[in-house]
Amino acid sequence: MLPDSLKLNIARASELILTSELTVAFTGAGISVESGIPPFRGEDGLWSKHDPSFLEIDFFHSHPKRSWQKIVELFYDNLLDTEPNPAHYALAELENMGLVEAVITQNIDDLHRRAGSRNIHEFHGTAGRFICEGCGMKTDDIDMSILPPRCTACNSVMKPDFIFFGEPIPEDAREMSFRLAEACDVMILVGTSGFVVPASYVPAIAKQSGAQIIEINLHPSTYTNTITDIFLEGRASEVLGGIMERIKGYKSSL
Ligand code: APR
Repeated sequence: MLPDSLKLNIARASELILTSELTVAFTGAGISVESGIPPFRGEDGLWSKHDPSFLEIDFFHSHPKRSWQKIVELFYDNLLDTEPNPAHYALAELENMGLVEAVITQNIDDLHRRAGSRNIHEFHGTAGRFICEGCGMKTDDIDMSILPPRCTACNSVMKPDFIFFGEPIPEDAREMSFRLAEACDVMILVGTSGFVVPASYVPAIAKQSGAQIIEINLHPSTYTNTITDIFLEGRASEVLGGIMERIKGYKSSL
């Protein structure tokens, strides 16, 4: 049972989304927690148990095998058998209803696409594709039985096509994300703490451009007392489920 204060805020948020000209969703690790993928920060976060330096691009270049061993252990083994959860499906359905224009995600797990979202901007790249450090060849199919995996064309080391610490954000994703942030009048933040830059600039740009910020998080974040207009404290699947119920209720009453 959702507390009354949350229900009230869900009603306010649903109203905003229904009357908005352009709504954009901005997601982080929290939206995939209910799919079995741990977040990065907080008590159960990856970085509270593992030193993230294996994801520094310089370490990858100097120790590709050790970096890959950790990448397989913490990412690819975790991604196996994961499925989108109701929160991912809710955003895809809102896009189908024409109420959400796009999803900007920091996640590399490909779950938004698998849930049916179409207009997706992967700010940190994806774990679903690999790039050759030598010839730049890209593929979504590599053999991980021998680490580091090698390029079938030039035998150089293959790298997952997601952003390592110390690497620039993919230009297209950055450009489109900032442009959508400037253009939207409502931004829905789902499951992100706001600790990482430049990703955390996206909601800030939206706010500066006059957008209303709806935040869905299990715990308050760096956004909650700075830019957030409506804070919905709870699990993403439950809160987005409540929003879908309100919106469908409204649409069926028309
Ligand atoms: N439902 C909603 N929110 C949740 C849930 C849940 N079930 N579980 C956790 N959260 C919230 C937490 O309260 C926290 O605010 O999700 C957020 C997760 O924060 P982080 O782990 O810091 O993840 P994120 O903000 O995506 O990290 C950004 O940091 O390490 C880098 O590249 C990595 O993309 C990542 C970036």
